[in-house]
Amino acid sequence: MINRIKELTEQLNQHNYNYYILDNPTISDYEFDKLLEELTRLEQEYPQFAQPDSPTQRVGGEITKQFVTVPHVFPMLSLGNTYSIEEISEFDKRVQNALLQKAEYVCELKYDGVAISLVYEKGRLLRAVTRGDGVQGDDVTQNVKTIKSIPLKLFGDYPDFLEVRGEIVLPHKAFEKLNLEREDIGEQPFANPRNAASGSLKLQDSSEVAKRGLDCRLYLVLGESLPFKTHFESFTKLKEWGFKTPETVQKCSSIEEIRSFISQWDKEREQLSFDIDGVVIKVNDILQQQQLGATAKNPRWAIAYKFKAQRVATKLLSVDFQIGRTGVVTPVANLQPVLLAGTVVKRASLHNYDIIQQLDIHENDWLYVEKGGEIIPKIVGVELSKRQEYTEKVSFISHCPFCNSLLIKKEGEAATYCPNESGCPPQMKGKLEHFISRKAMNIDSLGEGKIEMLFDNGLVKTSADFYHLKTESLLGLEKKIVGDDSTERIISFREKTVENMLAGIEQSKEVPFERVLFAIGIRYVGETTAKKVASYFKTIDAIANASKEELKAVDDVGEQVAESIVQFFNTVENLETIIKLRETGVQLELNEEDHQLLSHVLEGKSIVVSGVFSISRDAMKQKIELHGGKNVSSISKNTNFVIAGENMGPEKRKKAEKLGVQILSEIEFENIIK
Ligand code: IVH
Repeated sequence: MINRIKELTEQLNQHNYNYYILDNPTISDYEFDKLLEELTRLEQEYPQFAQPDSPTQRVGGEITKQFVTVPHVFPMLSLGNTYSIEEISEFDKRVQNALLQKAEYVCELKYDGVAISLVYEKGRLLRAVTRGDGVQGDDVTQNVKTIKSIPLKLFGDYPDFLEVRGEIVLPHKAFEKLNLEREDIGEQPFANPRNAASGSLKLQDSSEVAKRGLDCRLYLVLGESLPFKTHFESFTKLKEWGFKTPETVQKCSSIEEIRSFISQWDKEREQLSFDIDGVVIKVNDILQQQQLGATAKNPRWAIAYKFKAQRVATKLLSVDFQIGRTGVVTPVANLQPVLLAGTVVKRASLHNYDIIQQLDIHENDWLYVEKGGEIIPKIVGVELSKRQEYTEKVSFISHCPFCNSLLIKKEGEAATYCPNESGCPPQMKGKLEHFISRKAMNIDSLGEGKIEMLFDNGLVKTSADFYHLKTESLLGLEKKIVGDDSTERIISFREKTVENMLAGIEQSKEVPFERVLFAIGIRYVGETTAKKVASYFKTIDAIANASKEELKAVDDVGEQVAESIVQFFNTVENLETIIKLRETGVQLELNEEDHQLLSHVLEGKSIVVSGVFSISRDAMKQKIELHGGKNVSSISKNTNFVIAGENMGPEKRKKAEKLGVQILSEIEFENIIK
């Protein structure tokens, strides 16, 4: 069996390389998935034979509770940087003066993400560490292993020890998708792809990281007696060893060539699929690099030219306050339209109360709008010389502009909320839009402005009302819709439209419980959390009756999410909607198959799992459930036993011993359920 596991590991790694690095797949996605399925199955059956470079790690599953700090083999220096070509010229003079032979340069892009050090031993990815303070950083190996363009196993004549450095970036498409998802569950969107990449790298659940779509651009190779003499050649070697190398690296032997590389990418950077914030200029010859050496902070053989953020001043016309589905208030500046980096900017988010305070914006001010690495323009300051006399400071509203409720801002949180969840029109409409959305109940026959129409005509107030709609009340309803570009469209409910709508609503009764749980719109409960909570508790009643502590036993659920779930089920209006949904036949529990227990051996037992197991912690908890046990998050005198994996926290062990709670190993546990 071990041979088949090894063979599949190798084959799949090769296919991964063909697909992600060479861009030249030799098997179909279907065939690839079949092989991966086989390997996953075999590894589950024979975990002792799983290879350290197994491609199954790409989908994640490992949970890192706390990232361990590890020292760097070579310190991670940063680059001196400049915004002027003159200073690049001075850098060149310094370099040439210090060397006996003329230096040639390599120009490459300055990727705007998070620096990473990848350590390979005997061709296997051993460790991935963040920059940290340059001397030591966080071990984020499990998360980095999910990035498909980073090889887990090298090919060819690689050295025994190799360190490759690069930048983890989040491409624009993945960034936009992630932010839409976050807004959808009432979480603050990330300000830019760099922050999103950094946040993703620090997630505890690597299967979540796998879904984020991170990528990596490489820029430096370190080690001893490496088989190349120049930085440029190092990329050829990297490619041979199985790395994805950048195609934009260029040799330059004069300031003129450097200047033209910079101006080319200053223009073309908008067409890239990820953010860059400048260009890096490096001495090509590695011996020359060594002769030049480094200061305490920066190498003397490289410099970064940073692009100036593109910025214009424009006049503030007014500030709107928008209310999202979860009640978060977002101030939006309406601006005199202005051209910035190729697009006309008319509106820009002012994010929240604190930002308006910091910027100290007054009515009619001239504001600076900037588009730097980020794709969304942001307001970065005020041109005070143009401020008119006696203008009032822009104030944040105290009451909701739509329902007049007093707004709430919690200590330590940036967001301001309208608390009137069930009576504030934009929140109600937002919740309905969310309910029917693709990942929720997927009723696409209700899209395109229909919700607005149903809501404005008083036909639907909560999601349960969809299920009571009748043909007679819908036929003939009409509405004029004005698009962003001022084009007008009339939508009217004709027979066919109504028929489709009602059929779509009817069909949604088949949507499985986990998606219904996502659809009902509990703040902070996204698609994945909903799935985990549903499979753990099985029924909506069990969730509604669960305490905060019980909810926290689910891997994905922390204090904030648990609090939000409890609050949701403590609200009368939400309970009423759920009662009505139940009457209509919407799935409010997992179906029979998912319900069935494998045995009752753990019935009535409260169990705590701690540490790392041969399967993911989620899978472990599911096993407990399937045998009738109950997972709890912390050890108390009511705990029946603790299952201890590798690296069980010493505090937990002490507590269990003190309370006399039995500690079982994974094998002992397996024997019990057998
Ligand atoms: S070389 C010893 N090349 O910019 C020199 N860095 O302040 C190591 N970066 O921390 C850096 N693109 O995270 C280099 N093409 C590139 C880069 C790059 C982005 C980042 C890197 C570094 C920071 C420099």
